[in-house]
Amino acid sequence: MRPDESTYLQTRTEQMVERAGLRRRDLLKLGATLPLAAGVASWVGAAPAGAATTPIVKPLPPEWFVNYGTNAEMRWETARDLGYTIPNERFFVRDHTATPLIDERTWKLRVFGSGLDGPGVELTYDQLRRMPQRDVVTAIECAGNGRSFFATQQGTPSPGTQWGLGAIGVARWRGVPLRGVLERAGISSRAVDVMPVGLDASVVSGGVDYGHVRRPLPVGKALDDALLVLAMNGEDLPPDHGFPVRLVVPGWIGVASVKWLGEIEVSDQPLFSYWNTVQYVMTGDAYPSRPVLGAQTVKSAWELAKGAELPAGTPVTLTGRAWSGTSAIVSVEISTDQGASWTPARLQGQRGAGTWTLFRYACRPLEAGPAQLWARATDGSGRTQPLVATFNSNGYLFDAVVRHPVMVR
Ligand code: MTE
Repeated sequence: MRPDESTYLQTRTEQMVERAGLRRRDLLKLGATLPLAAGVASWVGAAPAGAATTPIVKPLPPEWFVNYGTNAEMRWETARDLGYTIPNERFFVRDHTATPLIDERTWKLRVFGSGLDGPGVELTYDQLRRMPQRDVVTAIECAGNGRSFFATQQGTPSPGTQWGLGAIGVARWRGVPLRGVLERAGISSRAVDVMPVGLDASVVSGGVDYGHVRRPLPVGKALDDALLVLAMNGEDLPPDHGFPVRLVVPGWIGVASVKWLGEIEVSDQPLFSYWNTVQYVMTGDAYPSRPVLGAQTVKSAWELAKGAELPAGTPVTLTGRAWSGTSAIVSVEISTDQGASWTPARLQGQRGAGTWTLFRYACRPLEAGPAQLWARATDGSGRTQPLVATFNSNGYLFDAVVRHPVMVR
């Protein structure tokens, strides 16, 4: 690396980190490696013994996030004060290893594979930016969102991050349709699978190196609505959310939306990785055929703290959001008597698949004491949240009605 390039990269990294709300001295305290090596610096394992470390770059104030180390969950009670989209600094983060800092000047996207006619293409950041772009408002939601309720509500715990319901966010994403890039690369009618590969550190578990985060997408979905995203809510992607370029796959489980993209393999044969064979498949007694996860399920959440206090005898309007990966939400029903009766909530506009619809419920809690709020959403395909989610050993797609505890005083 030439000295001037190294200075540029260092400055650039600091700018990115500052944009993410972290100052240089914080970065050094966290043990980050500067300058970047080959355009990518990762700070895994670089911290001095005893130093506070976080693999996530942006600040995670406890009033906004539940911090799980490599993952950070949005606190649902804070969504009440937010608009339809979740601001970048409030958006949940899910990293399999750690957020890498990538220099967009040296970054390239390589598209290659047996599903192309010809050798494929390599695109720089500027080349990609000059291609036609469009905006999509859609959610990214982790497949494990709601996992903790398998334990707390159903008594059948499953391992992994014990998310509440805050491993979801909706943003306005701007980018180049993946279709445009695949066509430019010469995609052929033989193509079957499209595998985006992340530039973050390889995932090592139990002494086995599973390589970079990567997960094949069927060619139909890839050509339909997948987007190579450069901007989130009107700003360059923040480092934690995939700078310089990530994929966003509307309606699908979050892992499909690969961050920090480096390569896309287009294959005329089905492709496999750890993320569609071991992780992100349904396993356990109810799923002998081990179906691979794709679209997200139906869910709803109150914009309310667990155990929130409601004044007895006083009218109150409670709010929440409901969503489904496959179609629009058509109704949300509320029960305050543990499912004996249901009252429709008022939907605030209707939104399509893969994003949420806001709902309101006006009530006057009468009896003082502990109570539960239940919300049950139905989508346009007729799928209604069940009272019990089917158990699977990885704890994915928890879709049951959540018993939200409140205290009436
Ligand atoms: N892409 C890469 N390269 N590495 C990752 O760890 N995590 C995935 C996905 N893309 C991940 C990734 C998972 S499991 C989810 S839920 C989403 O990114 C989370 O996106 P966010 O951190 O921007 O909210």
